[in-house]
Amino acid sequence: KATLPTGYTIRPLRRSDYFGGYLPTLRVLTTVGEPTQAEFDARYDFISSRNDTYYILVICDESGTVVGTGAVIVERKFIHNMGLVGHIEDIAVAKNQQGKKLGLRIIQALDSVAEKVGCYKSILDCSEANEGFYVKCGFKRAGLEMAHYY
Ligand code: ACO
Repeated sequence: KATLPTGYTIRPLRRSDYFGGYLPTLRVLTTVGEPTQAEFDARYDFISSRNDTYYILVICDESGTVVGTGAVIVERKFIHNMGLVGHIEDIAVAKNQQGKKLGLRIIQALDSVAEKVGCYKSILDCSEANEGFYVKCGFKRAGLEMAHYY
């Protein structure tokens, strides 16, 4: 299991992460926009009211700044004997913190959450450029992503 560098911590997202490195960290992944604090809080409250479904983790550096994040969303199915599936989403490590196994640590933590809550598998979509990272995390190629944007 990957260990964090000395002084780094991993914990669930907090409402106060509106301030600090959370949104800048997500910006290494994609467009975030400029949410107001009220917008952020409303989304945070929705997510935390469904705390058996959404699990968002962050890694903080020794100064307490968020430098990595990832989420798993637990889907409840009728198929596979009422099976649960973990959807791993929005994995990001700040540019200047990449290569320290923080990404691997986030995936391991999300995997253990998914397993503990009873998921029979976790799945994710990624670019070809990230395939090697997820292979190192124990995932294998399965299927093909399709998208329909509105
Ligand atoms: N291709 C091949 N191998 C890789 C890659 C890659 N793109 N990235 C990391 N690795 C390897 C590392 O070399 C390391 O291998 P080692 O154990 O042999 O030394 C292993 O994977 C673990 O790497 P970490 O240090 O944990 O990776 P890092 O902390 O840099 O995080 C991440 C990887 C999350 C992909 C990061 O580069 C990042 O934030 N990228 C930009 C955002 C992004 O693309 N996120 C993923 C989107 S897909 C999704 O969210 C489901």
